[in-house]
Amino acid sequence: MKQEEAGSRPSSESGSPVYILAIETSCDETSVAIVRDGTDILANVVSSQVETHRLYGGVVPEVASRQHVEMITLIIEEAFAKANVRPDQLSAVAVTHGPGLIGALLVGVVAAKTLACALELPLIGVHHIAGHIYANELVHAIQYPCMSLVVSGGHTELVHVESEGVFRIIGQTRDDAAGEAYDKVARALKLPYPGGPHIDRLAHEAEEAVPLPRAWLEPDSYDFSFSGLKSAVLAALNTAAMKGQPLAPEAVARGFQDSVIEVLVEKALRAVKEYGAKQLLLAGGVAANKGLRAALEARCAQAGVPLLAPPLALCTDNAAMIAAAAFLKYRRGEFSPMDLKAEPLLQLEAWSVS
Ligand code: KG4
Ligand code: ZN
Repeated sequence: MKQEEAGSRPSSESGSPVYILAIETSCDETSVAIVRDGTDILANVVSSQVETHRLYGGVVPEVASRQHVEMITLIIEEAFAKANVRPDQLSAVAVTHGPGLIGALLVGVVAAKTLACALELPLIGVHHIAGHIYANELVHAIQYPCMSLVVSGGHTELVHVESEGVFRIIGQTRDDAAGEAYDKVARALKLPYPGGPHIDRLAHEAEEAVPLPRAWLEPDSYDFSFSGLKSAVLAALNTAAMKGQPLAPEAVARGFQDSVIEVLVEKALRAVKEYGAKQLLLAGGVAANKGLRAALEARCAQAGVPLLAPPLALCTDNAAMIAAAAFLKYRRGEFSPMDLKAEPLLQLEAWSVS
């Protein structure tokens, strides 16, 4: 991917290629990638636990940790084989060390430290959301300052990226993350976990939309709120069921998706304008949403704002995005100590490059 552009970027001081092995285990995907010079994906192996967690309707942290333990060594071996890279060719080992589930993060952190120690390589701890944002760099050249709309299962944030690797959160959810709201509404509609893609599909099949509120909050706020919308969906479903006139799931999905998208798009575009951003970057699992991508594309085209969005496979959790973010720190020689901790509440702004 993006081989021609990758070649034009600075790699190491010696000019020889930089191979970063990255590990991602913050939630329910075990992923290992090997990326050359920050953007050239040689391997990006993702083992999803979604089938297991579907039985419980959501991620069970203890089960997630155990499956990461079972998979991590196999996935590392698979990544080396796919990339056709030898351990002695690596330049650094990167790992998501937060935010996320503590037990799940620990598996990746211990694996990364072990590799770094055994191979005598620098270790780079990466913030998961920095990874989602820099997934864009794997396919497009980012220009600064830019604005990133981060929408995932655990986060909904507007992040101002003033310069490379320097983050400032200007707005975030006050309750549920967008993906979390999708999953909860999907559950109410008896759809399988994770619900986002199912709601997206149903919304496109709908002929009408159940009217639902928009949470704009204070006029100048860039914050979001989705729990009121989720409660409104549940109330509409209950009321209709009590009247003996159940709502069509497609119409509920469409009403919910319309409300989420309208607020995300309006706030993102307002932020781009206010902060003079050169690009809008879409990031996180909900960035796979077809309705959101279409609405953003239309509004950005109208406003003359370049929109960057990773391909679907790089929107959801994967380790290539962690390698892309790690490369920022690699080039600056900003390495992590060997006592790097898993930090479930790691802050994005604090992870910024120096
Ligand atoms: O970024 P991600 O893979 O994991 C976290 O870091 O949270 O995001 C997972 C979330 C889930 O809530 C899932 O329902 C949502 O992304 N998602 C979608 C779509 N595909 C995945 N939400 C809406 N529409 C989609 N097409
Ligand atoms: Zn994620």
